Amino acid sequence: MIQEEWKKNGFVTEPVPAGVDLKAEIRRMCQEKNAVIMAHYYTEGIIQDVADFIGDSLALAQKAAKTDADIIVMCGVHFMGETSKILCPEKVVLVPDLNASCSLAESCPADEFSAFVKEHPEHVVISYVNTTAATKAVTDVVVTSSNARQIVESFPKDTPMIFGPDQNLGGYINEITGRNMVLWNGACHVHAKFSVEKILQLKAEHPGAKVLAHPECKGPVVKLADKVGSTAALLKYSLADEATEFIVATESGILHEMQKGAPEKTFIPAPPEDSTCACNECNYMKMITLQKLYNTLKYEWPAIEVDVEVAEKAVRPINKMLEISAQLGL
Ligand code: 13P
Ligand code: SF4
Repeated sequence: MIQEEWKKNGFVTEPVPAGVDLKAEIRRMCQEKNAVIMAHYYTEGIIQDVADFIGDSLALAQKAAKTDADIIVMCGVHFMGETSKILCPEKVVLVPDLNASCSLAESCPADEFSAFVKEHPEHVVISYVNTTAATKAVTDVVVTSSNARQIVESFPKDTPMIFGPDQNLGGYINEITGRNMVLWNGACHVHAKFSVEKILQLKAEHPGAKVLAHPECKGPVVKLADKVGSTAALLKYSLADEATEFIVATESGILHEMQKGAPEKTFIPAPPEDSTCACNECNYMKMITLQKLYNTLKYEWPAIEVDVEVAEKAVRPINKMLEISAQLGL
């Protein structure tokens, strides 16, 4: 029986028994329950290390759609759990802390986005995967930062389009594709905080370093980057490129896999503009702790639920994205 206390807090508040090898127990429970742990690159290193699969938003959705596990534990933010649940309604999808939201998804309330869509009849509606299920339900095609360019370009050049919620990603896609999509004015509170000034300061200290930036960063930051891409694309580039130093303008959790893949290289996190912190972290991603993951598997709670009618509508644009991505070999 779920205790009221858990519901109030959004995660299992039961203390973890002392002396337990959490990693070993987590792996044992996965085996016993036929559960799979998926983790986004922004989660704590310890979470990435215990996961079955680590990926960017596209890879996590693709993996969820194909898994034969009975339980998916999504170590990431709420919309990632929702996407998995929408794709696999018959499975149990757990997110260790329901408070793990996303400022971008929150910047696009479904009712307001719906009104925006109505104001632009005849427009194809493209939504970034960082949206709630209800916002996806009024969308034609979902995209991630891995496939946004190719999906937008799969429509004839003169197609009128709306892009939401990230104005930075939307602006970047408009620029590289020569489109003129109407943009929703949302942003991510982490990526919006990178500044040209602080990155140039780091460049002065590390003249040979290449700059890697996620397209959710503001336009001027993206412009000075040597590589712009999704978390997976930035990781791949950093491991393959001949440079030995990289300034990384995305959430600092990605440095874990970068450093693991290339221990001889130096990865420098770009700091947020408004603080003295060295790294820029997503407080939502960091809500996923090993203790919460252990309890989630043990009690199989909290499970993601999506309203059936909303899910029926939201699954179409997600599947459309997966279909186009498969056709394009992404
Ligand atoms: P990726 O799809 O590139 O991993 O990005 C997800 C995200 O939330 C970026 O802030
Ligand atoms: Fe959302 Fe930004 Fe966190 Fe990514 S980094 S999950 S966009 S709040």
